[in-house]
Amino acid sequence: MASKICPMLLRTAIRAAPRAPRTQFRAFTAAAVRRSDALSVHRNTPDNNPEIPFKFTAQNEAILAEILKRYPPQYKKAAVMPLLDLGQRQHGFCSISVMNEVARVLEMPPMRVYEVASFYTMYNRTPVGKYHVQVCTTTPCQLGGCGSDVIVKTVKDELGVAHGGETTPDGLFTFVEVECLGACVNAPMVQINDDYYEDLTPETTRQLLKALRASASGNTTLKVPAPGPLSGRQTCENSAGPTNLTSEPWGTETTRSDL
Ligand code: FES
Repeated sequence: MASKICPMLLRTAIRAAPRAPRTQFRAFTAAAVRRSDALSVHRNTPDNNPEIPFKFTAQNEAILAEILKRYPPQYKKAAVMPLLDLGQRQHGFCSISVMNEVARVLEMPPMRVYEVASFYTMYNRTPVGKYHVQVCTTTPCQLGGCGSDVIVKTVKDELGVAHGGETTPDGLFTFVEVECLGACVNAPMVQINDDYYEDLTPETTRQLLKALRASASGNTTLKVPAPGPLSGRQTCENSAGPTNLTSEPWGTETTRSDL
């Protein structure tokens, strides 16, 4: 009997013995962590503080009234995003005064407006230059054409900026790297203000920036290219020409000649 009890006691004692703590750690990525350099809090500055008055212009008041008509009166706070955009377009960036005015118009707590404006990167909470140069650096743009790394280097060299978010001393250009802008098929690409320029090469990128700089100073000798692919393509068609559906389609009203 003792020969049966002893092993059982031994097993119980082993189970009850305190286990050495094991580190509960699992790495999801081997890459070094890169913290965002975006400031997530507001700090008062001479050009961005609540003492600076902001009111929508009469023209934008009319647009604002149109926007509000899209929503039932009790849900008018749903208009927070288009109104922030309207304010940003009028003021140049989404300042604390713009956010406070949007909160007042929509009868929302200002904090709710700050939450929206600080969540979406397209609201610029600090001043940007006349041309906001946003180079896409997501994988398809990094791999397509000459690659976005080359475009980023070209932009930095041409503008003389060292890092993303920097504005040129003349206040003309602000450069940032952004995630996919949905034009991957024409990679690499850049968004400048509301326009997309695609199929970029270092040469076309340099020409584009030079033309924008010239146009800002009233010099019309350099023509700013039309938005879209700068490779001569119309949209995203095959540059080698059509490879299928090259003949007249036939349907119920057309019969095959060999039948
Ligand atoms: S990856 Fe650049 S536009 Fe989609």
